[in-house]
Amino acid sequence: VGDTTEPPTARLAGAPKAQARTHASHKGSYGDVAVIGGAPGMAGAALLAGSAALHAGAGRVFVGLLDPSAAPVDTARPELMLRDASALDLSGMTAVCGCGGGTDVRSVLPRVLATAAALVVDADALNAIATDSALQAQLASRARRGRPTVITPHPLEAARLLGCTAGDVQADRLAAARQLASRFGVVAVLKGSGTVIADDSGAPTVLNLTGNARLATAGTGDVLAGMIGAALAAQQPAFEAACEAVWRHGHIADTWSTNAAPLTAGTLARQAPF
Ligand code: APR
Ligand code: MG
Repeated sequence: VGDTTEPPTARLAGAPKAQARTHASHKGSYGDVAVIGGAPGMAGAALLAGSAALHAGAGRVFVGLLDPSAAPVDTARPELMLRDASALDLSGMTAVCGCGGGTDVRSVLPRVLATAAALVVDADALNAIATDSALQAQLASRARRGRPTVITPHPLEAARLLGCTAGDVQADRLAAARQLASRFGVVAVLKGSGTVIADDSGAPTVLNLTGNARLATAGTGDVLAGMIGAALAAQQPAFEAACEAVWRHGHIADTWSTNAAPLTAGTLARQAPF
């Protein structure tokens, strides 16, 4: 169980500080993130994840959109490099896959699972994997190749992956997160009030205590995926990257002034600290 005063990993001896930016560093020091998603009509989710990754400190952020007619630039966020998802080379990159991907994300998943150096799997990518045993085998094989992988289901997405109901997941959230972690050999982030982070290497399961119902608004999950992606791109170990991003994501909501504007996902993304 974590607390709200510091990230759960802050007490781990030697925990790397993803936020430290040394004087002589350059953008390559902080890694590349490639967000894959944004089927027609759903570009917003991918752009939110990209924006969060950027604000969380990633060196370069590409957004691979599944909508072939998407605009070539986001003028509000010109730092994001918009690409066609099917043409993006992911070798050496941290991919964040799923955000607003709809059913179209299925077509790029075999390549994403095979080639991304590190990977966050969210939303529609999880839904596609839940119904496809070949993709499940590919997800599980990443651990054998030492490729850091984090999955970020909400309870219904977790239920689809486990073949049970969201009620079953909610009845024992710790067990559900651990089952996901061990079944796929990944770090599993089971989202919701009291997000649970489990991994498959024997580390204690973490129950995160930051966050509140201000986060109950569409897009905040995409922001979390982008934040975890930035931490992975900065070479933070997967379990610590997930714990720290979940803690910070909740902490932003906990410290958000009640007098300020509502905490939309776009605002949350801009607060992602580095
Ligand atoms: N307390 C703490 N954290 C919360 C709370 C709460 N009451 N409510 C939500 N959160 C956090 C979750 O822990 C998670 O980090 O907000 C985030 C919500 O993420 P998702 O459930 O993935 O939601 P998101 O994808 O942003 O938006 C909902 O998901 O099911 C799809 O298509 C559907 O548009 C919908 C979208
Ligand atoms: Mg979501």
